[in-house]
Order: sequence, then C-alpha cells, then structure tokens
Amino acid sequence: MRGAVIIALAACSAACSAPAPTLPSAPAAPPPPALLVRPSGGADPISVGTDAPELVDATGCASCHAAISAEWARSRHALAWTNGIFQREYQAQPRPWCVNCHAPMPVQQAGLAAGDHALADQGVSCATCHVRRGRIVAARTSPGSPHDPIVDPTFGSPAFCADCHQFTFPVLSRDGEVERMTRHPMQDTVGSFLRGPYAAEPAGCLTCHGSAQNHAYGGGHDPGMLEAALDVAWCRRGDQLEVTITNTGAGHAVPTGDVHRHMNLRVWRSSVPEALYEGFLGRRFAPDDDGGKVTTWDSTLAPGKAQRHVVAIAALGEPDDPAEPINLALDYVFIADEFPRPHDAPDEPAATSVVRQRAAPDAIAPCTSPPAR
Ligand code: HEC
Ligand code: HEC
Ligand code: HEC
Ligand code: HEC
Ligand code: HEC
Repeated sequence: MRGAVIIALAACSAACSAPAPTLPSAPAAPPPPALLVRPSGGADPISVGTDAPELVDATGCASCHAAISAEWARSRHALAWTNGIFQREYQAQPRPWCVNCHAPMPVQQAGLAAGDHALADQGVSCATCHVRRGRIVAARTSPGSPHDPIVDPTFGSPAFCADCHQFTFPVLSRDGEVERMTRHPMQDTVGSFLRGPYAAEPAGCLTCHGSAQNHAYGGGHDPGMLEAALDVAWCRRGDQLEVTITNTGAGHAVPTGDVHRHMNLRVWRSSVPEALYEGFLGRRFAPDDDGGKVTTWDSTLAPGKAQRHVVAIAALGEPDDPAEPINLALDYVFIADEFPRPHDAPDEPAATSVVRQRAAPDAIAPCTSPPAR
C-alpha cells in the first residue's frame, strides 16, 4: 500500500501538472475503549496490546516505582494467582475461565501453557490495570513521566473495577471455557456499591481503597479494613442479650466478592458449649432455569445497615456458676468450610477473627436503644 502511494506521487511529479491523487480514505474506526477490552464476566483474557517485557513484567516497574511496587506485592492483587485459597479451589477444578481474572493477560496464560509461571505468579499485576493498546494508562500524567500515557479519567472508576469485581454466573463448557453468562450476580461488589450511599462519591471505590499513593487494596484479608468495616456491640435487655452488627465503613455489602465468603457470629458459655448460639452472614444459592444460580438467602450487610441478634441468656445453657462469662465471637471466613480437614486446608488461614469479647452477664451494659420490633 505504501509503495503504491510513493509510485503514484512520483508519477505525479513527473507529469507536473497532474493534481496529486487523493487516496480513498477509509473512515477512521473509533478506537476501542481504552480500558474495557472484553465483555463483562471475564470470558476473555485482558488484552493489553503488547507482550514487551518492559511493559508486562512488574519487576521492571519496580526499578522506578519502588514504593508502589512494594505495596502492590503484598496486596491480594499481586497474590491473585499464587494465594493458597485460590489455588486450592483452582487445582480441584482447573478452568481456563478462572485464569482470565486471576492471571488475566494473554502473555501470562501463554507462559502457563509453556510451563513458565513467572508472569502468572504476578497475578493482577501493574500491566493488567495500567497497560492498554501497548501503552501505559492512567487517570492523569505527571511531569517527568517517561511514558506518554493514555490519559483516561475513567481509569480506576467503579466501571473499571467492575471488569473483574462484578459478574454473573457463567455457563461453562466441559473444558472450562465460558459458553455464556447468565442473569444473576455471582460477585456483586460494584452492584451493592451502586445501590448504596457511597455511589455518588466522586472517587468511587478509591474513596476507601486505592490511590496513586496506595496500592494495598485491603479487604477481607486486612484486619484494619475489617475493623473499619464493622461495628459490633452487645448490650443486655433484662434476660436477653442484643448483639448488633453494623456495616459502618464499607461501601458495599460485607462480606462481598467470592461466593464462599461469609461471617459467623457465635455467642456461648464455655462450660456449656452445646448451647451455642450461631448466626450466619452470607449468601445461599439455588440453580436457576437459565443455567446459572439465583440468590435465595442474603444475610450480608448492605452499607450502613445493621443486623440485630436477640439471644435469651437462658438459651445459652445453665452453667454451675450463674456469673460465668458469656463469649462473643465474629469470624470472617474465606472459604466454604470454616474448619477444613488438614489434607484439604489452604496453606493460609481459612478464617480471621473480627471481634472477640467476654464478659459476665452482669457486666454487660444495659441496652439504651429502642427494642427490636
Ligand atoms: C488493580 C489495579 C491496579 C494495579 C494492579 C496497579 N495499579 Fe497503579 N493505580 C491504580 C489506580 C486506581 C490508581 C489511582 C488513579 C487515581 O488516583 O485516580 C493508580 C495509580 C498509579 C500511579 C500514579 C498515577 C497518578 O495518577 O499519579 C502509578 C505511578 C502507578 N499506579 C503505578 C503502578 C505500578 C508500578 C503497579 C505495579 C507494581 C501498579 N500501579 C499496579 C490501579 C492499579
Ligand atoms: C525508568 C523509570 C520508570 C520505569 C521503568 C517505569 N516508570 Fe512509570 N513513571 C516514571 C516516572 C518518573 C513517572 C512520573 C512521576 C511519577 O508518577 O512517579 C511515571 C509515571 C507513571 C504513571 C502515571 C502516569 C504518567 O505517565 O505520569 C504510571 C501509571 C506508571 N508510571 C506506571 C508504570 C508501570 C506500570 C511501569 C512498568 C510497566 C512503569 N511505570 C515503569 C518512571 C518509570
Ligand atoms: C484484572 C482484574 C481486576 C481488576 C481490574 C481489579 N481487581 Fe481487585 N481483585 C482482583 C482479584 C482476582 C482479587 C482477589 C485475589 C485473591 O485473593 O485471590 C482482587 C482483590 C481485591 C481486593 C482485596 C480483597 C481481599 O480479600 O482482601 C480489593 C479491596 C480489590 N480487589 C479492589 C479493587 C478495586 C477498588 C479495583 C478498581 C480500582 C480493582 N480491585 C480492580 C481482580 C481485579
Ligand atoms: C466507604 C468505603 C469503601 C468503599 C467506597 C468501597 N469499599 Fe471495598 N471495602 C471497604 C472495607 C472497609 C472493606 C473490608 C470489609 C470486607 O472485606 O468486607 C472492603 C472490602 C472490599 C473487598 C474485599 C471483599 C471481601 O469480602 O473481603 C473488595 C473486593 C472491595 N472492597 C472492592 C471494592 C470496590 C470494587 C469498590 C467500588 C465499587 C469498593 N470496594 C468501594 C470499604 C469500601
Ligand atoms: C470475572 C473475574 C473472575 C473470574 C472469572 C474468577 N474470579 Fe475468583 N475472584 C475474583 C475477584 C474479583 C475476587 C476477589 C473477591 C473479593 O475479595 O471480594 C476473587 C476471589 C476468589 C477467591 C477467594 C480468594 C481469597 O483470597 O480469599 C477464590 C477461591 C476464587 N476467586 C476462585 C476462583 C475460581 C476457582 C475461579 C474459576 C472457577 C474464579 N475464581 C474465577 C474474580 C474472578
């Protein structure tokens, strides 16, 4: 094509008076959206438009962005492929679909296929967020940047995070590829954010999670974030205990994300453990007629919402000593089975404690709020 143009121009200059031919120009195709390069649901890998090591390998970025890289390296994003909770589930049923979010770039997947997992081990790495069409992407550019980035103000917006954090149940083929996506959400983090009081925050998810200075993206695996998310209070109304769990600090349901995430509330007295009171905060599903699943039970806490558990002290058994303290525990569980059998346990904790309290019945403060209806 180029050659043809040059010849035509040469012919023109030889013919002197002939006007330069105008080449039929195809209408410029609109560029694909810079950031969202695949349909919702992770059916395809994330194409970043390059396999160049200086762009796709996070170790290269670390030489200039040391602080960000160190923080990212401890995040669940960096651990998205290697962490024991993911690998336990993936190894049980290795499906190509899973890889599209946990090691999302084609170059990572090609490496895995060739037995080289170095890039896949970087999980959700710098380039999976920051490289598109072979260029760095960011919300803004800074003086002194060597990059010539694509500047897109939607970078880091809820819609951007939704590429991995919002999707419906898939129908998978025998070999684990997506045949189609169904109606009901499997992960609904962005949905519950958009329905809640933080939807209008200009910084979106970054109000609480990430920024140019923060690449930790703490969530359920971060004790500080869990503490910030929930307020757990108990009080005594006559012969009953009231335990109130409030989502005071998360912009979406708690817990959210993976279908297995749940919390267990337990109230008991040590000498009569069989009279334990248990509350479950999580989701249950049933098969749906479109081949996906539908949520049949949802006791997760929407942002700003409180859940009250009323427990009769007498129902907690009859210890020999009526003053025996009452225990309260709220645990956040990452997998379906809180107490996996040793041969089946992930190589990291399956659960983490949010709150532990212990007090004699008379030492628990009387309730001041109006009673639950
Ligand atoms: C999960 C997606 C994600 C990953 C992974 C990620 N970043 Fe970021 N990065 C962001 C977001 C979001 C921002 C903040 C954008 C804003 O402030 O509006 C950001 C900001 C930055 C900035 C500052 C840009 C500015 O606006 O001033 C740099 C530099 C940066 N990231 C480098 C890196 C490097 C290096 C890595 C890998 C070690 C990395 N990022 C991994 C999402 C990501
Ligand atoms: C040779 C040093 C160097 C390397 C290597 C490097 N960066 Fe940068 N980068 C900079 C400098 C300098 C800036 C501008 C100041 C700042 O934000 O730190 C910058 C800025 C950025 C920004 C903000 C947008 C902009 O252009 O101002 C992003 C995003 C970013 N880098 C990502 C990356 C990623 C991802 C990698 C690895 C693929 C990487 N950088 C590798 C030096 C580097
Ligand atoms: C390329 C896919 C992808 C994108 C884009 C992405 N994430 Fe993630 N994110 C993941 C995966 C996968 C995990 C879970 C890793 C694991 O634990 O296995 C995760 C984990 C997290 C966690 C930590 C969860 C925990 O359990 O502690 C937070 C918080 C988070 N992401 C926030 C964000 C926000 C905010 C954005 C948008 C700025 C974003 N992510 C963009 C894939 C992505
Ligand atoms: C008002 C603050 C706030 C906003 C806004 C917010 N989050 Fe969170 N997020 C939290 C807190 C606190 C936690 C820890 C509680 C938890 O893990 O459930 C958390 C946890 C998470 C987790 C881990 C999920 C889990 O069950 O452990 C993910 C993933 C996440 N956030 C993604 C997002 C995304 C994506 C957005 C935007 C759509 C967002 N967050 C907006 C505060 C916020
Ligand atoms: C569309 C993107 C996407 C796909 C596809 C996907 N995941 Fe995830 N996965 C995520 C995100 C995002 C999180 C983080 C959830 C959170 O913390 O809220 C996650 C979290 C997890 C976790 C919890 C990890 C932890 O640290 O607690 C497991 C286990 C998991 N995924 C397994 C799988 C398996 C197995 C598959 C394939 C059957 C799969 N995922 C497919 C996006 C995806």
